[in-house]
Amino acid sequence: MNKQAKTKAALDWKNLPFDYHKTDFNIRYYWKNSSWSAGELVSDEYIPLHMAAPTLHYGQEAFEGLKGFETADGRSVVFRPLENAHRLQRSSERLFIPPIPDELFMEAVHKVVQANIKYLPPYGTGASLYIRPLVIGIGARVGLGPASEYLFIMFATPVGPYYKGGFKPIKALVVEDFDRAAPMGVGDCKVGGNYAAGLGGAHFGKERGYPIVLYLDSREKRYIDEFSTSNFIAIRDNSYITPKSRSILPSITNDSLSVIAQDMGMIVERRPVEIRELETFNEVGAVGTAAVITPVNLIRYRDREYSFGDTEDAGPVIKKLYDRLTRIQTGDYEDKFGWLYEVK
Ligand code: COI
Repeated sequence: MNKQAKTKAALDWKNLPFDYHKTDFNIRYYWKNSSWSAGELVSDEYIPLHMAAPTLHYGQEAFEGLKGFETADGRSVVFRPLENAHRLQRSSERLFIPPIPDELFMEAVHKVVQANIKYLPPYGTGASLYIRPLVIGIGARVGLGPASEYLFIMFATPVGPYYKGGFKPIKALVVEDFDRAAPMGVGDCKVGGNYAAGLGGAHFGKERGYPIVLYLDSREKRYIDEFSTSNFIAIRDNSYITPKSRSILPSITNDSLSVIAQDMGMIVERRPVEIRELETFNEVGAVGTAAVITPVNLIRYRDREYSFGDTEDAGPVIKKLYDRLTRIQTGDYEDKFGWLYEVK
């Protein structure tokens, strides 16, 4: 990589919020007449959209979130992008969106990172380049049905931690009067509708001082589904416990942490997790690309509060998991599972 390409933008890298910051380019591909166009790098942040586009009316859209990092030895890497490609394909199939092939997705990741390399946060700042791919149904259509044309866009924006304070414990509220997803719905897909459905619960929690809310299964309100922004994990003795449910997002971070936990000699239990088990857990975390692992030190469920460890600090196991994951991402720990994709 030449010197020019490594020059970084003048940003306060250590204090970045998790928010949109303009970068130089996004990449766009159009689906027309049954094929994807060649990718076009553009600097326009806006998209021309017909007012009758099915994405606007019927929510025909799917998206992803992944992160890029600079490693200690100066490489530019993206964490497990192929997994995001595969999840986007699954979400797309469910919503009758033409799936984006692996090669096209990977080309987009490569080009969008390369074109915005000055926004890839320098090693050691704790920040990352958040990459947001989205695919939307465009073209005019009023009757209910899949769009005839699609737009696949990928943009990148430098971000800091999702929850204020970074790796600091937060408290959660179990919301029972809101559902994020239906049992046979699209809860296991990364589609905008799930997040729109979650806005009510999130607002309810925030108004009461809880930065994150926890959803239960919508059929019985007996099992833990997931948090508003991320998956649920719990540590009990030597077990890493996480819900198995048809209506939660298959989190790539959760999958990575399960592999790390197993590698650390822990037992991984992926199974229905009852809400009444809360009192048996030693540590709880919210895990996802944006949340990484955010320790949850208190959960309010009905009229009871369940505490997990320290109010100021994460528990020892979550600390170890966080440390291992983030060190792999920045090349400080051996990438023995081949999770880093290098952008040259
Ligand atoms: C992510 O973790 O990448 C997400 O898309 C969750 C979102 C609430 C930021």
